Amino acid sequence: MMTESTSSGKFITFEGVDGCGKSTQAEKLVEKLFEIDISAVTVREPGGDPISESIRKLLLHAEESMSDRAEALLMISSRAQLTDKVILPHIINGKWVVADRYADSTLAYQGGGRGLSVNALDEINNFGTYTLKPDITFFIDVPIEKADERMSVSRDRIEKEGSNFQQRVRDQYLTIHAKDPDRVVLINGEQSIDKVFEDVWSAMKEKFSL
Ligand code: TYD
Repeated sequence: MMTESTSSGKFITFEGVDGCGKSTQAEKLVEKLFEIDISAVTVREPGGDPISESIRKLLLHAEESMSDRAEALLMISSRAQLTDKVILPHIINGKWVVADRYADSTLAYQGGGRGLSVNALDEINNFGTYTLKPDITFFIDVPIEKADERMSVSRDRIEKEGSNFQQRVRDQYLTIHAKDPDRVVLINGEQSIDKVFEDVWSAMKEKFSL
């Protein structure tokens, strides 16, 4: 089993709090890669495969109260399925995979947000991801008030947690960026969609010599 990204495919992830605009940027990136004849696919987390989508429904719309650890393990279990069945096969086939959230989301939400041990989550993430690491991660950073305005009205279980929770999530993302600035590129998400994408693309060009 491959444990690191190879010279063939690449693995790119987008991260940030709910409402930061990362999904729009992930879509724009795939379009741009397509324009320059790079074959890319997008995946979303939690979800992205039939089994992972079933886990997503449970995670985001469960009526009963869910234990924080059960939530963390389900997130990682969905990721394990997606990594094994979708992400790794694509990378091995030379595709570029653009993921809307990945392992950092668990560190930020279940670690920062819920207060579970980030070190423990990191280890379980490593198990669930076959230790696959993104080649580059875009952390689209916006203040919580701004993100809150952009969030859709119909909120899922985690989006309903409120602004103190989202603030802890953002702080944990900032810590992740500070620990690994070579992989995690912080992008100012308060700019226009086009300007955010300019920043994303310029980091892509530098990283992959495009
Ligand atoms: P997301 O798909 O980004 O939301 P949307 O469908 O609104 O674009 O993510 C769903 C929620 O799951 C979001 O609130 C973040 C949360 N989440 C975690 O708490 N931990 C994780 O590991 C992941 C991947 C997501």
